[in-house]
Amino acid sequence: MAEIKNVGVCGLGLMGSGIAQVAATSGYGVVAVEAVQAALDKGLAGIKKSLEKFVEKGSMKPEERDATLARLKASTNLDDLAGCDLVIEAIVENMPAKKELFAKLDALLAPHAIICSNTSSLCVIEMAAATKRPKQIAGLHFFNPVPIMKLVEVVKTIMTDQATIDALYGFAKKLGKVPILAQDTPGFVVNRLLVPYLLYAIRVYEEGLASKEDIDEGMKLGCGHPMGPLTLLDFVGLDTTYYIAQIMFDEFKDPMFAAPPLLKRMVLAGHHGRKSGKGFYDYT
Ligand code: NAI
Repeated sequence: MAEIKNVGVCGLGLMGSGIAQVAATSGYGVVAVEAVQAALDKGLAGIKKSLEKFVEKGSMKPEERDATLARLKASTNLDDLAGCDLVIEAIVENMPAKKELFAKLDALLAPHAIICSNTSSLCVIEMAAATKRPKQIAGLHFFNPVPIMKLVEVVKTIMTDQATIDALYGFAKKLGKVPILAQDTPGFVVNRLLVPYLLYAIRVYEEGLASKEDIDEGMKLGCGHPMGPLTLLDFVGLDTTYYIAQIMFDEFKDPMFAAPPLLKRMVLAGHHGRKSGKGFYDYT
């Protein structure tokens, strides 16, 4: 397998911009492709702002910021990814859109190139099946905010070969991340454990067993978690959690993953957490 030198990122939203940023900071040539110019501009502005914060904190020299930006090319033309050895897809969480993109990338990229998805909940083998290189398709699941969070789940499908996994471990380590190996099952490792915990916290609240403040305080002080589960739900997004829980329930048919009635009702009410101004707590 050829060495990874040039990295492509598709989708410059919340996750894609973080991934493009850390790859460029780590010395890779990066091509970031967006569907629309406005989203591209927003993504680039986010990257510049984030790099600026590192400079202000003193953890990055201004020359390093400039070199990072010089290594980053942004475009709205998918063809600009042609020279990439690895492309990471971070577009919307929608299977038809991802399959269409994977098929296009497969036709465009050199035979040695690896294509990864940053999906949180979709089946990676279904994307691999849209290509003629399933051995070189894997999940590469980063955590938000990408420049800060150390973990990357490397997701192996039943067809991913070991050379691809080895290359992705090397890549993740070069980004300063810690890779762990996960199988292509809903939630991988972290969300498989985290989602039932979050859903159970909602059930405890829903049943009136404790106030939301006490549930959060209990888990913070009793378990050493940096934030309580209801605060974390507001941070992740109640709509996102509901969506992932439904995918997991659909796959496993285990009541552990069934969304509590309160979660569904809060999502229907538009109480999606921090991003909507209201979730379990008020952010207005
Ligand atoms: P986002 O909505 O912030 O960004 C998605 C971007 O993709 C948008 O800017 C959109 O214009 C662009 N896009 C859509 N179709 C495109 C195409 N065909 N080509 C190029 N760009 C396209 O979404 P976010 O939150 O960054 O999520 C992206 C992926 O990362 C999803 O698969 C999600 O499940 C996954 N993820 C999200 C996490 C989170 O905390 N938000 C955590 C880990 C994974």
